Amino acid sequence: MNLDFYRARIDNLLKTHLPQDDSPLSEAIRYATLQGGKRFRPLLVYATGLSFNASLEQLDYPAMAVEIIHAYSLVHDDLPAMDNDLLRRGLPTCHVKFGEALAILAGDAMQALAFDILAANTHPNTLQMLRLLAKACGAEGMAGGQALDLAVVGKNIDENQLQHIHRAKTGKLIKASVALGALCANTPINHKTLEDLGLTLGLAYQIQDDIFDVELETVVRGKQQGADAALNKPTYPAILGMAQAKEKLAKANEQLQQQIQNLQLENSPLANLMAEVIQRQI
Ligand code: IPE
Ligand code: IPE
Ligand code: MG
Ligand code: MG
Ligand code: MG
Repeated sequence: MNLDFYRARIDNLLKTHLPQDDSPLSEAIRYATLQGGKRFRPLLVYATGLSFNASLEQLDYPAMAVEIIHAYSLVHDDLPAMDNDLLRRGLPTCHVKFGEALAILAGDAMQALAFDILAANTHPNTLQMLRLLAKACGAEGMAGGQALDLAVVGKNIDENQLQHIHRAKTGKLIKASVALGALCANTPINHKTLEDLGLTLGLAYQIQDDIFDVELETVVRGKQQGADAALNKPTYPAILGMAQAKEKLAKANEQLQQQIQNLQLENSPLANLMAEVIQRQI
C-alpha cells in the first residue's frame, strides 16, 4: 500500500469538503484539519477496506469522517479546560491561534460535518456506519474516555483502569476506522477477529503516544514533550515504568501480527499499514 498516495488522496478530499468561506470559524476548521497529521485513521479505513476489495470511492466518506472527528477531538483535547496544550502538529493549538470560543465551536462544527459527509455515502450500509461512528465518539467512546482521562488526573489507578481509559478515548475511534472499512467490503470477513485487531491496535497506538510523550523532543513531535508528566496524567510509563510500558507495547504488537495471520491478511494493505505503524517515529 502506497501510504503517500492515500495521504494525498485524503488531504485533497478534506480540502474540498471543508467549508471554503473566509469566516474565522471556517478558517479555524481548516487550520485544525489540514495542517499536518499522520492521517492514520483514514489510512486505516482505506487499508481495511482495500484488504476486502471495497471500492475506493465508497471508502472516501468514512475516511474523511474519521479524520475530521479525530481532528475535532484534538482541538478540544488541547483546550485549557482539558490538556491545556499550546502546540499541536508543530503549530500553535487552535485556541491559541483563534481563541477559546472559536476553538470550541470549530470542534462542534467539525463533529457535525463528519456525520454530514458520512451520510452522503451511497453505500447500503451507510446507516450502520453512522451509528457505529456515533457510538465510537460519544459517551461510550472517545468523549467518555476523555472524561475518565480527566477524572483520574493525580489519582492512583491500576493498569486495568488505565487500559480501559485508553481503549475508550483512543481505541474506540481506531477500532471504528477498521469497522467502517469493513462495512464497505465486498468479500467475506471474520468480523470478530477484525474487531479484536482494531482493539489491540487502538491500545498499542495510545501506549506508543504515552511513550513518545516522555522520549521525543518537542521539535520532532510537534507537541510538547513531557506534557503528561507535567499534568500528572496516569499513562503507561507513569504507572508501570518505561521498561514495562515498552514491554506492553511489544506484546500488543506481537498480538497484532498474530491477528493478521488469523485473518489470513499477510501481505494485505492492512498488514502493510500495521508494519508502518509499529515502526512509526512520531
Ligand atoms: C494523537 O493522535 C492523539 C491520540 C489519540 C494518540 P495522532 O498521533 O494520530 O495525531 P496526528 O493526527 O498524527 O496529529
Ligand atoms: C488524546 O490523548 C486522546 C483524544 C481523544 C484526543 P492525548 O491527550 O494523549 O493526545 P495528545 O498527546 O495530546 O495528542
Ligand atoms: Mg488528552
Ligand atoms: Mg492531549
Ligand atoms: Mg498524548
